[in-house]
Amino acid sequence: MRLDKLLAHCDYGSRKTVKSYIRQGLVCVNGTVIKKDDYHVDGFHDKIMIDGEYVHYEKYIYYMLNKPAGYISATHDDYYPTVVDLIDDYYRDDLFPIGRLDIDTEGLLILSNDGKLAHELLSPKKHCPKVYFAKINGIVDEKDIDKFLQGIKLEDFTCQSSKLKILNVDDCISEVTVEIYEGKFHQVKRMFHFINKEVIYLKRIQMNNLELDKYLKIGEYRRLTDEELDRLRNQSVIQ
Ligand code: URA
Repeated sequence: MRLDKLLAHCDYGSRKTVKSYIRQGLVCVNGTVIKKDDYHVDGFHDKIMIDGEYVHYEKYIYYMLNKPAGYISATHDDYYPTVVDLIDDYYRDDLFPIGRLDIDTEGLLILSNDGKLAHELLSPKKHCPKVYFAKINGIVDEKDIDKFLQGIKLEDFTCQSSKLKILNVDDCISEVTVEIYEGKFHQVKRMFHFINKEVIYLKRIQMNNLELDKYLKIGEYRRLTDEELDRLRNQSVIQ
């Protein structure tokens, strides 16, 4: 990989910034100062230093984003800003969202360049649990909990038994959580529509065993810790 690309991948700055570090003679490869930004390096074997500090090359990168409404879960879009646009300390071109949230849905979204993890979490065979907090127009009751447990039949598929919990009911607005094991298009909205109720606010709060950091404000993101990455990988047992 080119030296400037590798340094940008490692978050030392934009391509322009790292090029200027290289030209200033701040970068050494295997003990030699390198002033050519297109110099080829092997991130795993070459010893690269920037301003006296060893560069630790990371092949994969993982972010937790508290997605705001108004952003598309994609890498490019002709009309709307994308969730990747929110990650402004990122200079790699291979970052993508793992899964999709609707444009008006908020909450936990993982962005990474790790295709294997994406497959593990998104494959329909893996039944990765996802928990949503929702505000529902209408009074959600025990009968609805039973219907969700039985498995809601949508036009194109029958949902697995899902756990619906009622948190609060006030003024015909119910606050609930729902745990689902698929990731079909508009799934939560369609499940409530099936029981003649409408979702008026939706936020994902958990994926697998990883919960959204409650201190992460809407639109904010941060790197996952190793322990969080383990929790995200580790499937919980489906009852
Ligand atoms: N279900 C929905 O209806 N929308 C989402 O964004 C996620 C799950």
